[in-house]
Amino acid sequence: MNILRTHSTAEYTQNGIQIIEKALAASTDTICHLALAGGSSPLPIYESLPQASINWPNVHLWWSDERMVPHDQSDSNFHQFNHFLQSIPTPSTNIHAVQTSLSPSSAATAYTSEIQSHLGPLPQFDLILLGIGPDGHTASLFPDTPEGQNTVDEYIIPVLNSPKPPPQRITFTFKLINQAKNILVTVKDQPRVATVEAWLNGQPSNRPFTHLSANNGNLYWLISD
Ligand code: 6PG
Repeated sequence: MNILRTHSTAEYTQNGIQIIEKALAASTDTICHLALAGGSSPLPIYESLPQASINWPNVHLWWSDERMVPHDQSDSNFHQFNHFLQSIPTPSTNIHAVQTSLSPSSAATAYTSEIQSHLGPLPQFDLILLGIGPDGHTASLFPDTPEGQNTVDEYIIPVLNSPKPPPQRITFTFKLINQAKNILVTVKDQPRVATVEAWLNGQPSNRPFTHLSANNGNLYWLISD
């Protein structure tokens, strides 16, 4: 586990970009796979992506969770990132948005198939980006649910009653996240920082983020107070 504590947005952003550059450059394939997160914590890093040293035509973009709303709505995670896509040369065929016109269950099944068709039956992303909610959720893996306790066996599941709106989502599970080659958890601002720091300092917690654990890869905690 790598813990990076940063003390300014500039330092946080610079470290985040360096981790992304290293994770994507380390890919043994010419093609690599990056899963993006929603929420506020990755935003400063996304802002700096156009200046990063990344071979974008070789990068496929995915979403580690998505809200089941049309892509042109402001609370769509795709919509949030689409703004940054204007400034990076990613071919449209490399952009794998969730099909939000489907039911959550059908979208989860379709996204699993799409991922497996590109990454194989045991998909290992080169890098998965995540944020943490104030309640300790990550992706759309919420407290007091089986998926939030890492007890489900699927790679991607529908969420029908998210406590954070909008209620319908699909999400990567810990099973899929933890087999990635690199996981970058972005933790910005209170109360997220205090919650994560307490656990990193040994305080017991059953919040979902405590199930993050890179099976064979690198897990980075990028923290900005
Ligand atoms: C989402 C997310 C989610 C997010 C956290 C933090 O779509 O809601 O991907 O996991 O990263 O909820 O979001 P905030 O930074 O906005 O609190």
